Amino acid sequence: MTVPRGAGVSDPGTPAPASDGVDDAPVPTDPLVLAASWLPAAADAPGPTMTLSTVGLDGYPDARTVLLSLFDGERLHFHTDSRSRKAAELAAVPRAAVTLHWPEAARQLVVVGDVAPVSDHEARAAYAARTPYLQALAWVNDHASAADTPARRRKAWAAFGRERAGTDLGPPSTWAGFALTPVRMVFWRGATDAASNRLAYHRRAGGSWSWESWPG
Ligand SMILES: Cc1cc2nc3c(=O)[nH]c(=O)nc-3n(C[C@H](O)[C@H](O)[C@H](O)COP(=O)(O)O)c2cc1C
Repeated sequence: MTVPRGAGVSDPGTPAPASDGVDDAPVPTDPLVLAASWLPAAADAPGPTMTLSTVGLDGYPDARTVLLSLFDGERLHFHTDSRSRKAAELAAVPRAAVTLHWPEAARQLVVVGDVAPVSDHEARAAYAARTPYLQALAWVNDHASAADTPARRRKAWAAFGRERAGTDLGPPSTWAGFALTPVRMVFWRGATDAASNRLAYHRRAGGSWSWESWPG
């Protein structure tokens, strides 16, 4: 088994990392290419889930699970409610980390980067790709509903379903999409017959990537 060693940069002529630490196949010097082989194709969107970590308004880290709406080859998209805590935190500090874990494949991917709102077109397309349940949730999931009794929440949910039956409401005005542009991508691979290891890529000024091999 070839384990990647040392460090390098993705400038032309620089050798790529030798392998992803488990397979002996060459690893792309561009982590976005490697990410594309780990993440589902756009047609499979949305999913999988990921932990989205932000800088809380109190300075402490904040984290929660969200769906990966789309990886467009450059950015990771996610969607939420514009009134949410995460939206306020991203407005204050537009930086985040996302952590994806595939236990069955012994893989973890951590992506750190800059976050910006997506276009209206992208946000609408992501809403259209959501399940009917999640589309309805985007309309009714507010503070008043959260504080209501379970019985009243069920009643309001059923009433919303009756009212919207057969209509294409589109996203509510509170539907908010964001995209994370990576500056650091860390690919972790586990193995049963070897130590786990990581390939850590850093985007350099000018856009090329440097890489290092990190212990598990
Ligand atoms: C499996 C799973 C998937 C979720 N997907 C989303 C999502 O795509 N967008 C979202 O806003 N919240 C999603 N949530 C809810 C968030 O984890 C979180 O509770 C909510 O967004 C409020 O977060 P905030 O107060 O930190 O802004 C999901 C929760 C779970 C358990």
